[in-house]
Parts: sequence; C-alpha cells; structure tokens
Amino acid sequence: MLDKFGRIKLGHFPTPIEFLKNLSEDLDGPEIYIKRDDCTGLASGGNKTRKLEFLMSDVLQNNVNLVVTVGAVQSNHARQTAAACAILGIKCLIILEQRLEKAPDSYMKSGNVFLNKLFGAEILFCPKDLNVDEYAKKIIQEREKGNIKCYFIPVGGSNYIGELGYIECIREIVEYDKNKIFTHIILASGSGGTHSGSIVGKKYYDYKAKILGISVKDNKLNQENKVYNLVQSACKFISCPVPDRGDVIVFDDYVGEGYGVPTEGMKKALKIMAQREAILLDPVYSGKAFDGLLDLIRKNYFDKSDKILFIHTGGSFSLPAYEWAF
Ligand SMILES: Cc1ncc(COP(=O)(O)O)c(C=O)c1O
Repeated sequence: MLDKFGRIKLGHFPTPIEFLKNLSEDLDGPEIYIKRDDCTGLASGGNKTRKLEFLMSDVLQNNVNLVVTVGAVQSNHARQTAAACAILGIKCLIILEQRLEKAPDSYMKSGNVFLNKLFGAEILFCPKDLNVDEYAKKIIQEREKGNIKCYFIPVGGSNYIGELGYIECIREIVEYDKNKIFTHIILASGSGGTHSGSIVGKKYYDYKAKILGISVKDNKLNQENKVYNLVQSACKFISCPVPDRGDVIVFDDYVGEGYGVPTEGMKKALKIMAQREAILLDPVYSGKAFDGLLDLIRKNYFDKSDKILFIHTGGSFSLPAYEWAF
C-alpha cells in the first residue's frame, strides 16, 4: 500500500476485472479481460481518479486556494480534477488547449467542457500561438500577485505523485491475479503516468505480466523516453529499483493523423466493444488503445494461450463531442 505517501479517498476501488467472453470467442485468440477503470467514480470514472487521490492529498497539505491544470479541450483529466476540487471545496482553473485543426461547435462546448462547468471550474482557452504550460505559468504568476496560492497539476496528472495511482492499480491486479494468469497488460499511453506507474508497479510488486502502451500522440521513441523519465522519478520517490528501459514498450501505429483525431480503426474498435460487450470506450484514448489490441491479435503478436488484461482508462464522456466523427 502506498497510502503512507499521502492519499485521500476519492474513488471506488478496487475496480472490477471482467472477462470479455463475446470478444474472446469472436477473435478466437487469447482470452481478453478488462479492468474497469472507467468505473473509478469521481465524475463517473476514469484513470485520473487514481492519480488525484495522491495529487489532491498533496494539494490539501499545501493549503492551496486554487488548483490549476491544463489539457486538451476534451480533457478527461480536466473534468476529474474539476470534480475533485468541487468535493474538496477548492477553486479550480482549467486551461484548455485547442489541439484539433478544425473542431465543430460540439467539440468546443459539449462533453467534458460542459461537465467542467457543472463542477464549477473556471475555464480559460490557451491562445493558439502560445505553449499551454508557459501560458499557465503566466496566469499563475498573475493570480499569485493577488495572494492566491496556486497548485499546478501537469497535463494528465502525470508526475511522480500522480504515478502512485497506477502503482496502486498494479497492486490491485496482483491481488486479483493470485494464480498469475495474465501474460500482458495493455493500456493507452498519453501524458504517460498511467503507463509509467504501471511499469513501476510491476517492479515494486514483482509482477510478471508484460505491459504494452499504445501511444495516442507521440512516436514510439519520444513516448518511451517520456514514460521512462516518469518511471525514474517515481522510483526515486518511493525508493524502488529502477526497471529496465526495455520494460517500456510503446506501439505508435494507432495514433493516425494526431492526438484526438479520429481514425477508422478507433471507430471500428469502439463499435465492436459497444456492440459485443456493451462497454463504451472513448475516441481519444481507450478506443485507439483497443484498436491496437485488436490489431496485435490479428497480427499474431500474442499466443493463443495468452491472457490479456486491457485497462479501460475511461473517457466515454467525450463521446457526445465526437458524434460528428461517427
Ligand atoms: C480516458 C483516458 N485514457 C487514457 C489516458 C492516458 O493516460 P496518461 O495521460 O496517464 O498517459 C487519458 C489521459 O488523459 C485519458 O483521459
């Protein structure tokens, strides 16, 4: 348990692990299981609940007046941070970055953007020609001049504190998997904390399953380097031996034209999961990750005897903002 590093309760844990019977039969390949991190609670779930249990504990220890975070327009991290702030009675400022070239009105206003407002967060859009982190820094400096103590949570809540959430997720998986049936864990790799935390968790709990990340933005090398940097910082924080660089495995074939841009593979994968298992994925992360899993199965990357655990990291609240893509 990592509670000694400072954790508050925000979610529903452990999340269930379910066997995807229909899909496993349809694909006639390895058995596929799903860890339902879309059911973590806190604004209806997603991977950020785990990170925020540790990050918001740090916020509380620092007597903060305003939590500031950044993300893409349809950021799930922003929605869950806004919700965490709401329940803790702390003001929240979300700075959204427009990463899509052409975005319809629904993308700019519905889905997570709408929900951020319901949770009472203040929203700013980063001017297109500015770097969002630089812009956030400038806003924080301005607010602090007015004696508002700010706490900055980086994109995706991915730092050595947020990562603890996914070390903890691996602890849950180890506890469930007493007979060590899972051969692979597969997940979406974005800002990297989910992926890196899982790799550190594998080391920390001496778990054997291979962890595969499906990039949703960067190329393989950049994503692997980003994840490995995060791995190293979390290991330092919790005094864990650093895993080998080779434990960081990223596939970058499923990004398509770029972050948040729908692909045919994602749309197909999302419909298959909805129509065969009645589970909603999201278009930006879990949909692309599941596309990757289906493709790797088709390409015989796995043995038939393998047992794969897909981590559903949430995000289906952005679906209404992507209706145009389908
Ligand atoms: C639904 C969902 N899945 C996966 C991810 C990727 O997680 P990470 O940013 O930790 O790599 C995100 C990140 O925002 C997300 O919102």
